[in-house]
Amino acid sequence: MDAKTRPDKLREASNPLFNNRKLKLGTFCSNLSGGCAISSVEGTLEANWPSTLALARMGDEMEFEALVPVGRWKGFGGVTNFNGAGFESFSWASAIGASTRYSGIFATSHVPTIHPVMAAKQGTTIDHVTGGRFNLNVVTGWFKPEIEMFGEEQLEHDTRYDRAIEWLEVIKLLWTREEEFDYEGKFYKIKKGWLQPKPLQKPYPVVMNAGGSEKGRHYAAKYCDVAFIVLQSHNFDDVRAHVDRYRKFAREEYGREIQVWTNAYVVQGDTDADAKKFFDYYVHEKGDWVAVDNLTRTLGINAQTMPPEVALALKAHFIAGWAGYPIIGTKEKVVDELATLSRAGFDGVILSWAKFVDQMREFQEVTYPLVVQAGLR
Ligand SMILES: Cc1cc2nc3c(=O)[nH]c(=O)nc-3n(C[C@H](O)[C@H](O)[C@H](O)COP(=O)(O)O)c2cc1C
Repeated sequence: MDAKTRPDKLREASNPLFNNRKLKLGTFCSNLSGGCAISSVEGTLEANWPSTLALARMGDEMEFEALVPVGRWKGFGGVTNFNGAGFESFSWASAIGASTRYSGIFATSHVPTIHPVMAAKQGTTIDHVTGGRFNLNVVTGWFKPEIEMFGEEQLEHDTRYDRAIEWLEVIKLLWTREEEFDYEGKFYKIKKGWLQPKPLQKPYPVVMNAGGSEKGRHYAAKYCDVAFIVLQSHNFDDVRAHVDRYRKFAREEYGREIQVWTNAYVVQGDTDADAKKFFDYYVHEKGDWVAVDNLTRTLGINAQTMPPEVALALKAHFIAGWAGYPIIGTKEKVVDELATLSRAGFDGVILSWAKFVDQMREFQEVTYPLVVQAGLR
């Protein structure tokens, strides 16, 4: 039966995040100019509908489980004004959802930019549009100029998560409670909250969070179904230990099993040397170092306190693909690296390419069949 004609159901039935593929895949930031590459190299993603749709369709054809947009309201300056132009993620998710048949579709929502009643309603609408493939990525907002644009005060870091707890509690109540309810929180007061129809997914759509701090980790482990982690080290034993620690933390602290994902950037070449050469070109020659300075400063990364070569490597890593796990080399190497991430314990990885449309197409045509052959899919 077509997903769209199925009645309300457990989310495992319709949401590909629950399929049994060994390594789930996705795209990251296909809704914003530049995608994940902070570079003026020709061919980076433009914020136009045909491009973002082309990426979603390729992902859907490969049955990627997660199409994850980034929530962004302002760019980071420099010659590219990195990520400055882009599509709002709920409306993007609705149209992308209607244009795809398999992939899990995310909206990435900044808590202070949208009232939970509206977020619950929009999420529900997308869940119906997609036949039960909607997922909500909760972000608390670290880029002050964006939050101020909404006339909101930028709260202190941990307080943002306290607000996010209430925000999500209200959304989950709206998604599950049949009768009207009142909610009396510190940040939200809801009188006779009510929402119909309910999302198709039961008990409610998948919720993800990428909190890296102690408070963020508790938020993801306690309230979310998927945690995204940013790797500090790319050494295999460190990566595996990091994933294990996260799972163990969710299990022991909250008795919950959650999925653990990360993000990676792919630089593929005919030889490893070709791939490295292209990396050097788009990062070191064409990188937008002003934008990356602005970005890392905003993130609170103080490059002044690091040895210069460490700061340089870190910024290069951001330019290459939002500081994701680096996958650089031949198509065989790309497959090996994906296998490595699977062995390290990840449930899934969201991917990006510098020349997003062209290079993802090459991945689809040339590399993806090898990923399948390797038993990862
Ligand atoms: C995969 C991934 C996606 C993220 N997406 C966004 C986003 O779209 N918008 C945003 O403002 N922050 C985004 N973030 C930032 C996180 O929400 C979070 O603030 C950051 O990882 C730092 O963790 P902390 O909030 O616990 O300090 C993302 C982080 C990761 C790792």
